[in-house]
Amino acid sequence: MATFPDGFLWGAATAAHQVEGNNFNSDLWVLEHVQPTLFAEPSLDACDHYHRFPEDIKLLADLGLNTYRFSIEWARIEPERGHFSVNALEHYRRMLGACHENGVIPMVTLYHFSSPRWFAAMGGWEKPAALDCFVRYCDRVARHLGDLLAFATTFNEPNLPMLLRWLPISEIPIVTVKRMAKLAARAVGADRFGCFFLGDAAKLRDRMTAAHQRGVEVLKSGPGNYPVGVSVSLQDEQAVGPDSKRDRKCAEVYDPWLEAAQHGDFLGVQTYTRCRVGKKSDLGPEPGIELTQMGYEFWPEALETCLRYASARVSVPIYITENGVASEDDTRRVEYIRRALDGVLNCLSDGIDVKGYIHWSLLDNFEWILGYRPKFGLVAVNRDTQERSIKPSARYLGEIARQNQILDPAAIG
Ligand code: BGC
Repeated sequence: MATFPDGFLWGAATAAHQVEGNNFNSDLWVLEHVQPTLFAEPSLDACDHYHRFPEDIKLLADLGLNTYRFSIEWARIEPERGHFSVNALEHYRRMLGACHENGVIPMVTLYHFSSPRWFAAMGGWEKPAALDCFVRYCDRVARHLGDLLAFATTFNEPNLPMLLRWLPISEIPIVTVKRMAKLAARAVGADRFGCFFLGDAAKLRDRMTAAHQRGVEVLKSGPGNYPVGVSVSLQDEQAVGPDSKRDRKCAEVYDPWLEAAQHGDFLGVQTYTRCRVGKKSDLGPEPGIELTQMGYEFWPEALETCLRYASARVSVPIYITENGVASEDDTRRVEYIRRALDGVLNCLSDGIDVKGYIHWSLLDNFEWILGYRPKFGLVAVNRDTQERSIKPSARYLGEIARQNQILDPAAIG
């Protein structure tokens, strides 16, 4: 059986707002609590990972995984503009320390969708000042945490707002979005609420590509010596019909960020599904195809297509920083992992420089506007007791990691 290269990273990922709990100084917390809101439920205690990280990181290591990708929360580190919390930074030092103690490589994302309230109140990414704010935050993080970092990424899926523009117009609850944004602005005493998900996608792209470039420089200037990259959402885009706008979509959503990734040390690829693009927008799933809890097509082969797409456009190494499936049926996750990894092996045998596979997600967690219903975790979390239960898919991926090769799921107990 073909094996993965020596030193291949095997991991699982989380994001601060989705797992830590009580991230009440963030813009998303505000949106979760206005009425009406798009959020099915508020994040509240999430997985209490803020306190339970020592056990969670140990669990990840015990499974056999060697990498933990997590994000640090800007709203905690800089609770008011220009004022930094040494306490919060020390918290993340302890998390990084726990990784090292367990022999786990930490890959840290500085920005995973959520911003501090004050950042939203000042207008968010659309404002020119956003750039200096982000760079100052990166600088502070690099100086305080740099010696413990192994990998850093500036942004998680900064191309998401552009991707969302391709949803069929009928799927966007425009009236609720507008009301929610207005109420959130009022709640923070501002005229506009500058949230990542609500901004002008083109302005965000321009500001954030510039912020990435400067962020990389600053993150590399502190103590420590670690690669810095960006994680980009990349889906398998398929053209439907002779007038499909598929190529235009790729040029708009993906290519600018693949170009931006060249200003760093690596590209993170994050793939979940296939999208069918018609002459105006996405068409939605093909009738008859199995759907995940997200309403996406169950399409693990998307990963191979996306790795090939990315590798044709970037010269930096590629890490799969997210890939996974929302399902209550864990046997579907096992199947998804196996088929996705087959695709990774195909890419490797064609010489594509893929250096790691990090699964989304370590824990069942807060899936943004959909709340806690979709289950992406390798590990289940009891919402009343916070008890963790290891799913068979976690043992499957852990065993693959230990043996550095794809295994027959039936052979794992
Ligand atoms: C995001 C995660 C999210 C996952 C599943 C990615 O877009 O980075 O935060 O939970 O997809 O939807």
